[in-house]
Amino acid sequence: MSEFWSLWVVLCVLGSLFACLGLIAWASRRASDDLVEDNSLQASLKSWGDVRAYDAPVPPEWLYLFYLGIFFAAVYFSLYPALGKFPGALLWTSERQYSQAVGQYQIRYAAKYSQYLTRTLPELAKDPVARKTGQRLFMTYCSNCHQTAGQDREHYPKLTDRDWLWGGNPDQIEATITNGRTGIMPAWGAVLGEQGVAETASYVISLAGYVPTDPGKIAAGKEKFALYCAFCHAADGRGDQRQGSPNLADKTWTHIASRDVLYNPRLEAGVRAAIANGFTNLMPSHWNMLDRAQIHLLAAYVYSLSN
Ligand code: HEC
Ligand code: HEC
Repeated sequence: MSEFWSLWVVLCVLGSLFACLGLIAWASRRASDDLVEDNSLQASLKSWGDVRAYDAPVPPEWLYLFYLGIFFAAVYFSLYPALGKFPGALLWTSERQYSQAVGQYQIRYAAKYSQYLTRTLPELAKDPVARKTGQRLFMTYCSNCHQTAGQDREHYPKLTDRDWLWGGNPDQIEATITNGRTGIMPAWGAVLGEQGVAETASYVISLAGYVPTDPGKIAAGKEKFALYCAFCHAADGRGDQRQGSPNLADKTWTHIASRDVLYNPRLEAGVRAAIANGFTNLMPSHWNMLDRAQIHLLAAYVYSLSN
C-alpha cells in the first residue's frame, strides 16, 4: 500500500468514527432543544391528523450503547490492522494465524502420521485406516487435477491403471509426488510439415493397434519415427519412464480426447495435433507443502489404486 492510500484509509476510517460521534451528540442535543422552541411550524410538522409525533431525547441506554460501540471500534483499530499501514499493537496477521494453526495441527498429528513411515507401500495399501487417511489427503491436495480418485481426464494421466509415465513402483510414485514432474514433448509441426505429421500420426495410430485412414502413410511415418521420435519414445514406441515419455503402443492416451477402443477420425486429429504442437505438462512438487509421512500415505493410496 502506498503512503497516499494508507493515509486515505486512515482519514476515511477516523473520519467516519468522528462523524458517528458527532451525529450522536447532535441528535441527542437536538431532541431536547426542540421541546423548548415549539413554534407553530414545528408543531404542524409534528402532527398528521390524529397522529402526533413527540420528540423525546434518545433513551440513555441507547446512547451508552452507541458510545460503547465507538469506544470498541477505537480499541479494535489500535490493536488490529485497520488504519492503513499501521499494523496494530498486537501485530496480528492472517498469515501468522494460519501458520500457527498449521503448526499446532502438525504437532498433534506428527506422531500419528510418522508411525506409517516405517511400513512399505504395499503393506499400507492393504491397511484400511492408512488407505482412508491417504484418500482424504488425496481429496484435499490432488483431486483438483486428478479427479476424486485418479480417474481419466484429458491431459492428466489416469492413476488407476498400470500404464505409467514416470513409473509405478513405490519409489517412483513417492518421487513423483515429492519433487513433481515436467513432461516435455517438443512441437514437431515446423520440422515435419503437414505431410510428415500426418505420416508419423498414421504410424503412431498403427502402433496403438488401430487401422489409420491412410495405411499407405505408415511406412514413411515409421522412418520418420525412427529419426525423430525413437530417442524419447523408444524404437518400438513403448516409451521411456526416465523421461516420462509415454508408451504409444497401447490404447491409453493422456492428451487425446478419444477414449474409444475403435478407431475414429477424432483420434487421428488428436494424435496429429499432439505431434504438431507438443506439450509441457506439469505435476507440481509437494515437498514444501506436505511432510514425509503424508507423502508416504498419499503414495500408498495411489499405489492401491492400481495394485
Ligand atoms: C496442478 C495439477 C496437479 C496436482 C494438484 C497434482 N497433480 Fe499429479 N500430475 C499432474 C499432471 C499434469 C501430471 C502429468 C505430468 C506429465 O505429463 O509428465 C501428473 C502426474 C502424476 C503422477 C504420475 C503418473 C504417471 O503416469 O507416472 C502421479 C503419481 C501423480 N500425479 C500423483 C499426484 C498426487 C498424489 C497429487 C496430490 C498430492 C497430485 N498428483 C497433484 C497434475 C497435478
Ligand atoms: C524429447 C522427447 C520427445 C520426443 C523427441 C518426442 N516426444 Fe512425444 N512425448 C514426449 C513426452 C514426454 C510426452 C508426454 C507429455 C506429457 O508429459 O504430457 C509425449 C507425448 C506424445 C504423444 C501424446 C501421447 C498421449 O498419451 O496423449 C504423442 C502422440 C507423441 N508424443 C508422439 C510423438 C511423435 C510422433 C514424435 C516424433 C515426431 C515424438 N512424440 C517425439 C516426449 C517426446
